[in-house]
Amino acid sequence: MAKDKIADKPSEMSLADFFSANDGRRDRWSQLSACAEAYGAGRGSSDKLVPQIAALLDELEPLEAYWAYPGAPLMRALRALFDSGDAQGVFKAVDRIKTSIFSGSYRRDPSAWNIEEEAEESLSDRLPPGIAEGAYRPYFEVLSVVPESARTSNSQRELHKMRRPEDPFVFEQVATFSFEDAVVAAIVNTNLQAAVIYDGFHYKSRHALASLGELLQRFGIEDDGMPADYGLALARAIKTIRPEIDIYLVSERNVEEAATSEQARLVRRVFYEIEELMELHLSIMAGVTERYSTPFFDNLKKYAAKPVGTFHALPLARGKSVFKSNWIKDMGQFYGANLFLAESSATTGGLDSLLDPVGNIKEAQDKAARAFGADHVFFGTNGTSTSNKIVVQALCRPGDIILIDRNCHKSHHYGLVLTGSQPLYVEAFPMVEYSMYGAVPLRTIKQALLTLKAEGKLDKARMVDLTNCTFDGHMYNCLRVMQECLAIKPDLIFLWDEAWFGFARFSPFHRRRTAMGAAAKLEQMLASAEYHARYEDWKGQMKGKVGADLDPKDPALLDMTLLPDPETTRLRVYQTNSTHKSMSALRQGSMIFVRDQDFHLIEAQFQEAFYTHTSTSPNQQIIASLDLARRQMELEGYELTMSSISLALDLRRQVNSHPLISSYFHTLTPGEMVPKEFRASGVEDYGRPNAAWDKVLEAWDNDEFALDPTRITLVTGRAGYDGTQFKGLLASKYDVQINKTSRNSILIQININNSRSDIAHLLKALAAEARAVDQRLKDMDANEKAAFDAGVKSLMEDVPDLPNFSRFHDVFRDDPKSAASEGHMRAAFFAAYREEDCEHLKLNDPKIDERIAMGPQLVSANFVIPYPPGFPIMVPGQVIEADTITFMRKLDVQEIHGYNASLGLRLLKPDALAKRSKKSGSGDR
Ligand SMILES: Cc1ncc(COP(=O)(O)O)c(C=O)c1O
Repeated sequence: MAKDKIADKPSEMSLADFFSANDGRRDRWSQLSACAEAYGAGRGSSDKLVPQIAALLDELEPLEAYWAYPGAPLMRALRALFDSGDAQGVFKAVDRIKTSIFSGSYRRDPSAWNIEEEAEESLSDRLPPGIAEGAYRPYFEVLSVVPESARTSNSQRELHKMRRPEDPFVFEQVATFSFEDAVVAAIVNTNLQAAVIYDGFHYKSRHALASLGELLQRFGIEDDGMPADYGLALARAIKTIRPEIDIYLVSERNVEEAATSEQARLVRRVFYEIEELMELHLSIMAGVTERYSTPFFDNLKKYAAKPVGTFHALPLARGKSVFKSNWIKDMGQFYGANLFLAESSATTGGLDSLLDPVGNIKEAQDKAARAFGADHVFFGTNGTSTSNKIVVQALCRPGDIILIDRNCHKSHHYGLVLTGSQPLYVEAFPMVEYSMYGAVPLRTIKQALLTLKAEGKLDKARMVDLTNCTFDGHMYNCLRVMQECLAIKPDLIFLWDEAWFGFARFSPFHRRRTAMGAAAKLEQMLASAEYHARYEDWKGQMKGKVGADLDPKDPALLDMTLLPDPETTRLRVYQTNSTHKSMSALRQGSMIFVRDQDFHLIEAQFQEAFYTHTSTSPNQQIIASLDLARRQMELEGYELTMSSISLALDLRRQVNSHPLISSYFHTLTPGEMVPKEFRASGVEDYGRPNAAWDKVLEAWDNDEFALDPTRITLVTGRAGYDGTQFKGLLASKYDVQINKTSRNSILIQININNSRSDIAHLLKALAAEARAVDQRLKDMDANEKAAFDAGVKSLMEDVPDLPNFSRFHDVFRDDPKSAASEGHMRAAFFAAYREEDCEHLKLNDPKIDERIAMGPQLVSANFVIPYPPGFPIMVPGQVIEADTITFMRKLDVQEIHGYNASLGLRLLKPDALAKRSKKSGSGDR
């Protein structure tokens, strides 16, 4: 048998199904296992089975070359068993390997590494020490990129020998021999935590890697043959895809030069040849330890183990008031001792204070900043509802104008009430047929800024406040938005509410659409000589009418790409995320990310805002879970996010192609969720057969909006169900909980916790419901069928228009004639505190229609926020128009905050507004 059969075998591999590389691997092992089982049991024709097994082995061998387990030795042993015709041996070996891959047991179980009956010693020779001793430590893999000639060299073997029982982790190595293979390994091998790059490898893989070139290009990695500093080029390529991986360079050349180059920032350490193998080994351990360590959680565990006597608040701390109780013992039994041992109101004795962190909370926040690509991170223990208010209060002043999507979560609107800034509502594009909004077109935002400029109010514009991605999955092109807005006003601040989108940092696909990812790119772009030249060129074309000299009345500005002045632009980006919504944090765990060049100027006010909103008794467990969520994402976020994307794509594909399910249910595609004018790429759907992944990535790079595949709108109207009914049905009949609903759809969210079994469970439920509808339809008589069709038509076609924000009443406007619609919402909010100035009108009272037609205007006294969709359809001071009333009347949701059906709409009385009008300018605002 050829010694190095795995790497010697050139093969066709397509990366088109990038996300499902791991599922593809598992599927092949499953097929192989089924064939091997029949072969071993002597069932079926071996004339058929043998070529099938051979073909599957041929397909698996090149794939397995990117993983340490089962790795070349086990695959060789398997091939040898097969070549020798040992059917039983093949079955046992395949079964063991497949089970180990599926269960991950090779990370901790020595027997997984053995497919033959071997002597104990020879087995323990081969095993990583931690596994051999039976002491569990986390396992990972290290990528070695070595020259072809080093295939049998000692460097890997020598590094292997450095492993010691006292190591905190166990690792195995995977060798690749080319730039391309190293990149593919970084893509497919989710166990990788470090890469050691030696001099002298090739560029091209010996496998035919279809579409790799295009894919790399989309990550900004060009095939320029073999650049001089190819080690560093590879480091950059790996980091672009997986920034968390630690890179070590081992070079025989001028290591001093390599160590001091600009790109060496990406490299953790540079070594001269392999003179310091133990140092390399220890560095690998230290790199992973840095990510593994959770300073706050680690200290909390130590604290919990200490015998502390508390003479402080919180009687349940240490569990004493619980475990000794006659009546609440079950609380202790249910939650377990550690919860109480770890509860404390102390900020000393190994703990730290969230309000003034100087110890392990500060360290935990700094680690999160590194992990999420921010300059500073602040932990929040009261959800992103509070994080948003903190950022808004920290940055927005009374009277400032804030461009804000009305569909932003209510916390933003309440934040503006608190600060007294004036919202200038910019409208998202409506998706009337599904009763939902998309996101705000860049044109709309630019138009609003240019209008302010034309009216001499641009200096008041302080912030652009948007939700990315939206509830329903619309992802902004954050880079384009910031770039073009900064071209109009160079010191604008951006608040991106990424409540749902925290995980996105760890997907190389989504990262480009995150605020922090875009800010990093924009920062690089503005600093580059190439951009400076491009800007000068553009300035020339615009005859110098750029920046402060832009002509706001020039309509061409709306359609051209505006460039910010690299000399005057200040990059000020804030992002909030509900860590608990997409990562493993406890409910209410939230983070604020800051990437603001001028943060030092507002740090004190940021602190004040933090104090304003943060409880003086923040929950220790929430803080610890934020620390742990960061650890998890830095060590396995890539694997988890890739898996959730793969599951989401699978669910989408299955629903839309299943003959029965697709007759009544449909998942909305990017083509259906993103109107053509915002989708220049023309990409209609994800992946094959609709678009190759490089095309989808191109769309994600350039299109104005893209759709996050993990947020799936499932249209239920054609099955005769409105969203709320179907949500209830899934919960009661199938124990399936879903996210929000619209009139004719439900939103399914695929997260890092979901599995293929979950997808199967949901599909089974959909198939059962589709079958039931099908049967009902067959059993219906003509009248019943007509009633069903009418119901479907009503759900799918008789949908209310979505009301836009109308305007603030004149008394809440500085200049009622202004074309920009900002207003003093806080004044309206507090005006309603005078009960005598308010009135109620029932929603169906004809007076409402009369007043809309004839006046006096109806002016909302408060926010009215239906759930769903969860954003205000009325805000304080807003003039209520007919479309809002029609929408309210058709709204079939139970929960509407700010509206009591038995009282009716709460309005500011016309005479109170008239009085106010007379004394406007009196400083009442
Ligand atoms: C866009 C958006 N921002 C903020 C929040 C509030 O987040 P939290 O629940 O963490 O307070 C939500 C909640 O659903 C949201 O959808």
